[in-house]
Amino acid sequence: MADTRPPTVGDAVPRVRGSRWTKGRPDMNRAMSVAARLSEPSRMRYAGDVFNTGKARRRDRLVSSAYWMLSTPTWGYRAVDDVHLAPFRLGLEALATTGVQPAFVVDVGTGAGASAAMLARQWSSARVEAIDSSWRMLRRARSLHKEPNLRFRRASALSMPYDAGSVDLLTCLNAIAAPSEMRRVCAPGAHVLAAGTWVPLRGEDSDWVQRFAAAGLRRIDSGSVGGGSWELYAVAG
Ligand SMILES: C[S@@+](CC[C@H](N)C(=O)[O-])C[C@H]1O[C@@H](n2cnc3c(N)ncnc32)[C@H](O)[C@@H]1O
Repeated sequence: MADTRPPTVGDAVPRVRGSRWTKGRPDMNRAMSVAARLSEPSRMRYAGDVFNTGKARRRDRLVSSAYWMLSTPTWGYRAVDDVHLAPFRLGLEALATTGVQPAFVVDVGTGAGASAAMLARQWSSARVEAIDSSWRMLRRARSLHKEPNLRFRRASALSMPYDAGSVDLLTCLNAIAAPSEMRRVCAPGAHVLAAGTWVPLRGEDSDWVQRFAAAGLRRIDSGSVGGGSWELYAVAG
């Protein structure tokens, strides 16, 4: 099969042909595949804790951070992959068709920054900040995306460096913050776009959607694409 990767990213990811560890995963070398498997329980627990409690266990945070640092080239590759980005793109298009014009947009856990760059291009007069806790991811993001209204910033989703009620649109692709923290920074009339490449759409009565609702964020639109999904939330009331 032809290698269709763009020349600017992913080149630091050596590919191992025919390995059972990497089958169907051209963005993964064998070492990264092993690291992903070993760190998965910690990363899943970390994400669950962050979403449910707004806090994370120290060990899970350390393991997850190490994984994000090691896997930066992999995420750089995914950041230019249309399938990876499709749920975010569709959610963004759905929001844009409503005619909203956010002045301040924050992308949480931006990784290599493709989602943030999409936002900056969609609303070129908006100020877009993309936060991530990994300096290595941010370095990759800055090298890939140069939109003039986009700034990458090292910050934690657990305690975002924004005043209450200051953000017009908060987004996350394959990343998450606690709904209460998202709601805290949301301005009146703000939206939250949550998209996942590998997460099927959750039902209206799921714990996930109910947690958003309990924080004052009402799901107003959603959709599925491939194995992933996107959801739009609005500040309730
Ligand atoms: C699964 S990756 C998603 C990257 C990107 N959004 C994408 O889908 O390509 C999760 C990202 O969240 C970042 N992250 C993890 N915990 C975080 C936190 N507490 N605050 C900010 N970023 C965090 C990681 O460094 C990583 O870049």
